[in-house]
Amino acid sequence: MSVGLKEIRSAREAIAASVDRTPLVASRSLSLRAGVPVYLKLENLQKTGSFKIRGATNRLSLLTAAERRRGVIAASAGNHAQGVALAAKNLRIASTIVMPEGASIAKQEATRSYGARIVIAGKNFDEAVQEARRIEQAEGKVLIHPFDDDAIIAGQGTLGLEIVEAHPEIATLLVPIGGGGLAGGVAAAVKAINPKIHLIGVTAPARPTLADGIAVKRPGRRTAPLLKRYLDQIIPVSEEEIAEAVLLLMEHKRIIAEGAGAVPLAALLNHGRGLRGPVCLIVSGGNIDVTLLERIIERGLVRTGRLLRLSVVIPDRPGALAGLTHAIGRLGANIVHIVHDRLSLSLPLTETRVDLSLETRGPDHNRDITAGLRRLGYPLL
Ligand SMILES: Cc1ncc(COP(=O)(O)O)c(C=O)c1O
Repeated sequence: MSVGLKEIRSAREAIAASVDRTPLVASRSLSLRAGVPVYLKLENLQKTGSFKIRGATNRLSLLTAAERRRGVIAASAGNHAQGVALAAKNLRIASTIVMPEGASIAKQEATRSYGARIVIAGKNFDEAVQEARRIEQAEGKVLIHPFDDDAIIAGQGTLGLEIVEAHPEIATLLVPIGGGGLAGGVAAAVKAINPKIHLIGVTAPARPTLADGIAVKRPGRRTAPLLKRYLDQIIPVSEEEIAEAVLLLMEHKRIIAEGAGAVPLAALLNHGRGLRGPVCLIVSGGNIDVTLLERIIERGLVRTGRLLRLSVVIPDRPGALAGLTHAIGRLGANIVHIVHDRLSLSLPLTETRVDLSLETRGPDHNRDITAGLRRLGYPLL
């Protein structure tokens, strides 16, 4: 096995100056919910918003002087792009990042802000990789693989060292798996120090998924043997479970996690009965688009009964809408969104339809609101 404690310890020295040692915090509310003590390793607070800077910094620090002069290239639409770009900047190495068409503008700008040259090419990730290979050949750059590389794996493994050193009593560790660089490195570190730790890899559904950081990637030649040797269990999670975990982290711990960073919590809460505590969850990244976050919040509120959608029929006459909003106010709900449709063909000319989204206190309150409106004579559709 090519990546072990020795390589991970030297990676730690190589990255110490430019990578943060992120907090490892206990969560009382998540512990209560899960029924075991829960700790969170907050790699969403890492520089660039994910653990990727660890592997990239270690990989780049091992380049020869000649390779440094040639510069590096990577293909990525996400966290690897930013990790490589900042690692290169810190080591004064030129970087080129190929992103597929449609990569989010926020991610392009973040990567550019670290001084990388951005090339937009290809309809999808595979085509971007092809273009990166072409530039590698044409311009003599060094290609930095996102996970299937021993120096990358050793760099990600430093995260595992930090966890077992800070809390040697951790009994179960959950880590997201995409290509397996993170899980492979962390596994090699923690199992070397404590072979009894129960190690669980968590995977997301195939695309499209909220956990785009780990979507469709498959372990490679370097990472697969590590996962096979060290992982005790693999847990797949669903889209709904990921969305709920993102929301819980935000509401209970004020933590912004991207989908891939929330899968360990999703696995613990939905499939983790009987796991030994203390449990540690790696929150591997926090780079989530705010528009996606907004959709997750809304859907979460609907699911937990705190956002109520209603359609009400009212007479088409002046003051009728005011009467309805007044009634809703007295029932204690807050109007988040309202559409007053006077042109609906399905209603008689004397009636109009009002579609409402209401913020409420939960399922019991929802029942009071619908009963209250019916009592006041408002037909609900
Ligand atoms: C936030 C986040 N978590 C987890 C992963 C999975 O890492 P790996 O591909 O090394 O398994 C990624 C990969 O990009 C990621 O961005």
